[in-house]
Amino acid sequence: MSASVQLAGGVAVITGAGSGIGEGLAQEAARLGMRVVLADISAERIEQVARAIRDAGGEALAIPTDVTDAAAMAALARITHERYGDVRLLINNAGIEVVGFIWDIEPAVWERAFRVNVLGVVHGLRAFVPAMCQSKQPACIANLSSVGGLGMMAQQAPYIASKHAVLSLTESLALELQQVAPHLQVSAVLPGPVMTRIFEDASIGQDAASVDHHVRVMKGMLAQHGMPAKQAASIILERIAAGDFWVSTHPAMTQQMASARAEYLQQLARPTMTAEAAAILGPQPI
Ligand SMILES: NC(=O)c1ccc[n+]([C@@H]2O[C@H](COP(=O)([O-])OP(=O)(O)OC[C@H]3O[C@@H](n4cnc5c(N)ncnc54)[C@H](O)[C@@H]3O)[C@@H](O)[C@H]2O)c1
Repeated sequence: MSASVQLAGGVAVITGAGSGIGEGLAQEAARLGMRVVLADISAERIEQVARAIRDAGGEALAIPTDVTDAAAMAALARITHERYGDVRLLINNAGIEVVGFIWDIEPAVWERAFRVNVLGVVHGLRAFVPAMCQSKQPACIANLSSVGGLGMMAQQAPYIASKHAVLSLTESLALELQQVAPHLQVSAVLPGPVMTRIFEDASIGQDAASVDHHVRVMKGMLAQHGMPAKQAASIILERIAAGDFWVSTHPAMTQQMASARAEYLQQLARPTMTAEAAAILGPQPI
């Protein structure tokens, strides 16, 4: 489906809605007249966002949910249906960053990155898609990948690999729904740099001393070049509502990353860090 979907008056479910892009999406969905269900592992953060939405005259329900827990995601879907009925917009947004060299990152940290970033999306789809298929009502499903889902970045392999996985999962979803539920629209969201707290937790479970430099560099990059989350959220919802599959906050960057990736694969070239990325990361002590 590529026609636009009427979001106003519908129900939106947004994971990771307590901060950053998810918070912006929840605020913007409410502003557009949607009833919003906010899910996040941080009960405190979503309660605050829900309160702000209600204070502004919108309707919001905060349901503390860990996206890595399939049963909790099923409960989120059940409560949403009981309270509001059909879902018109599902955004699997919750995600975490991990930095460090591949061989230094503990297995538990690798597992957490994939459980949140990839299986969190899978659990979201398993919990909500069957009812969305059955209802026959036009609706949208958007998964948060990243421009990093099109390219490579040194010292962020769990994150980058997970975002490539989210992108292929989303492309597969689009194919499957074209066959069985063409009333459902799928979008792959590929934000560029957005100013959020995402790097605050990027050293959890790791030797802080060995990743501190990289975390500082990345936080500095977002502080300097990141788009405000509110602006990113508004662009994302506008493009989803317009029916786009590829949803980008930074279209020129997305285009450049996609072209570079296509050219690299076509030439079967060797992986090399771009001069730009090398300059951002700086000299690497090992
Ligand atoms: N900020 C960027 O530059 C950027 C760029 C590309 C893609 N993204 C993607 O956008 C999405 C949102 O990121 P953000 O930058 O707003 O980050 P953020 O840290 O500001 O917000 C993420 C939210 O997800 C929640 N969360 C984390 N683990 C969870 C879990 N297990 N269950 C439920 N909620 C959980 C956090 O509590 C937090 O409120 C992520 O998928 C991220 O990968 C961000």
